[in-house]
Amino acid sequence: MTEVKLLFSQDAAIQENEDLKSFSKQVQAGSGAAVFSEGRQWYVMAVKDGKTGCLETIRAMAGTAARELSRGKVFSATLDVDGLSNGFPDVSPEEAVTAFTEGWHLGAYQFLTYKSKTEPFCTKLTIEGASEKAVQTGEQRAEAVSYSRDLMNELSDVLNPESYPERLKDLFKDTDATVIVHDKAKLEEMKMNGVLTVGRGSRYAPSFVEVSYSKNPSKPLVALVGKGVTFDTGGISLKSGKDLSDMRMDMGGSAAVAGAMKLLVESGADVNVVALIPMVENTPDNTAVLPGEVIQYKNGHTVQVGNTDAEGRLILADGLLRAGELKADYVVDIATLTGSIENALGSEIAGVFGDEELASKMKAIGAKNGDAVWPMPLIDAYDETLQSDYADFNNISSLSFAGSITAALFLRRFVSEDSRWLHVDMAGMMQKTSNSGYYPKTATGYGARLLADYVSEISK
Ligand code: BES
Ligand code: MN
Ligand code: ZN
Repeated sequence: MTEVKLLFSQDAAIQENEDLKSFSKQVQAGSGAAVFSEGRQWYVMAVKDGKTGCLETIRAMAGTAARELSRGKVFSATLDVDGLSNGFPDVSPEEAVTAFTEGWHLGAYQFLTYKSKTEPFCTKLTIEGASEKAVQTGEQRAEAVSYSRDLMNELSDVLNPESYPERLKDLFKDTDATVIVHDKAKLEEMKMNGVLTVGRGSRYAPSFVEVSYSKNPSKPLVALVGKGVTFDTGGISLKSGKDLSDMRMDMGGSAAVAGAMKLLVESGADVNVVALIPMVENTPDNTAVLPGEVIQYKNGHTVQVGNTDAEGRLILADGLLRAGELKADYVVDIATLTGSIENALGSEIAGVFGDEELASKMKAIGAKNGDAVWPMPLIDAYDETLQSDYADFNNISSLSFAGSITAALFLRRFVSEDSRWLHVDMAGMMQKTSNSGYYPKTATGYGARLLADYVSEISK
């Protein structure tokens, strides 16, 4: 049973040991490496210059260490809280402990459901001298993000609009949250025509889940709307490409909402929040919606389905209308909405549209908690490009550019005037293509922390 002692390269213990001192100089800044000295195993982490004030650096270093040591089946690893503080003098020890713990568990994350020969393994972390509460917070945050990752990684035949509501019922069973599932008959009654239309071609009936957690009903009501497309083939406007497997993660927005709710509920946050999750599978069939059909929304809007692959906005529209019915004071929707956002911002940062004051607040939250996001413009001039020859408007723009903006402008038409709204496009953040920091290859679990912290912040 191997035991490893974790050290940061600035640690005093290194200066006292010639072996470690010379070894630590070899460790590439920003990564870690193992060495045997004085009869025991060490793992030295080298912090990049100028990165000692950054919680994300702590998470990333912890994640890399956890993945490497867990892969090596190292039984346990210990770190002194003083070593951590010395390595990161610019952050409080509590925040450093939470970040290290969080990054550790996220770095060791694996999705093994379908690996018949691999057992899960995570090197046990002990931070000596750490506050219990700080460790627990880190674990809780990692669990919420891991829950989102599990949902995203799950296969589309296992997690579909009929089974997904059951998962959420299970998750919030015996908690202070209430789960209501609207089935297809109820959706018809509620005139959720976007969800019903997009879900028409699938063998799974569409659904709509509402999770409410009103710990403090006197707080402003925050609605979190998450895109729950359990697979996006594009529908009749079929996607092309060799492997569409990743489109099982097109429910990433809903996974973020579910993870955020888990975190809020488990930490007993003093908030008033409701999650609204439309669930569909977007697939072609002889019953599927055809391009050119018109959807009648319950607020009176008629929408031409110019492209069945622009399905996310069609179902989010019903979610936004529902938020209006519930008189939410604040609304955030989050979705893997457009390929364009990845062209604009890449795969390290998501885009946020809407209320500029709140968007800048969200940007600051993301910069601190690891779910990076950047404010994007809602240009009024592009709004008219959603025009339709025979319906009130179209679900696609006539422009061949600015696809993320026009998608956001489409959504804005469904937001109640009485609420303050943000829209997060996380399509570029859906997954990583290689292991890096505390991210394993595949689903990121992006957005769970962002939404939970945002809800807490505006409920203060
Ligand atoms: N789910 C996709 C967006 C997406 C693309 C997410 C890549 C993650 C990775 C969305 O439903 C979609 O198909 N959007 C279209 C919109 C277009 C038809 C207006 C797109 O971005 O191409
Ligand atoms: Mn699509
Ligand atoms: Zn989609």
